[in-house]
Amino acid sequence: MPVDEGRALHAAAVEAGRLGLPLLEIGSYCGRSTLLLADAARRAGTVVVTVDHHRGSEEQQPGQEYHDPELLDAWDGSRLDTLPVFRRTVADAGLEAHVVAVVGGSPQVAAALGGGGGGRFGLVFVDGGHTDAHATADYESWVPQLAEGGLLVIHDVFPDPALGGQAPYRIWRRAVSSGAFAEVSEHGSLRVLRRLAPGI
Ligand SMILES: C[S@@+](CC[C@H](N)C(=O)[O-])C[C@H]1O[C@@H](n2cnc3c(N)ncnc32)[C@H](O)[C@@H]1O
Repeated sequence: MPVDEGRALHAAAVEAGRLGLPLLEIGSYCGRSTLLLADAARRAGTVVVTVDHHRGSEEQQPGQEYHDPELLDAWDGSRLDTLPVFRRTVADAGLEAHVVAVVGGSPQVAAALGGGGGGRFGLVFVDGGHTDAHATADYESWVPQLAEGGLLVIHDVFPDPALGGQAPYRIWRRAVSSGAFAEVSEHGSLRVLRRLAPGI
């Protein structure tokens, strides 16, 4: 994530933290964005719940554009395991008390933890799988749990298909056209929206 997008994510999380509710991240990876959310959670006296199966997205698999061989599973070199690096990142930053890491598939975690509505999170940051199936499942699983006045932040929104995949763009369009959100800001591929009313 470029520095300006990271700053914007942190600023959104600090603002959302004023609601006094936990923050939610889909896509922990190695913990970089988690640190930004965790620092905001620390200031607000709350936590960030971050969800990831830690096996990497499609583009991070061996042979793909964003593969990092240093992240291969120490016991099974055919697949990724980003959890050890994630844990070290959070511990080294002294933010473990403000991070609740859940290991599992995003829609399965949402369903197991109660799913549905309820407005339990002050911010939902969507940065998980970038296929339409994954992005739509993340949206439908977690966005109903965003409180009124809370912020929805979506990463990798590229209106121009030549610049990137379209799934995050499509869920951003869905949020905008739902009538439930107001657009707050854009920073590179990061979009921030505010929930004004129930709905997705
Ligand atoms: C682009 S990375 C996240 C980057 C991170 N937010 C950051 O900025 O440092 C996407 C992450 O989503 C995770 N992911 C992809 N699909 C998932 C799913 N269905 N459930 C849980 N995690 C998933 C991958 O394992 C990967 O770690």
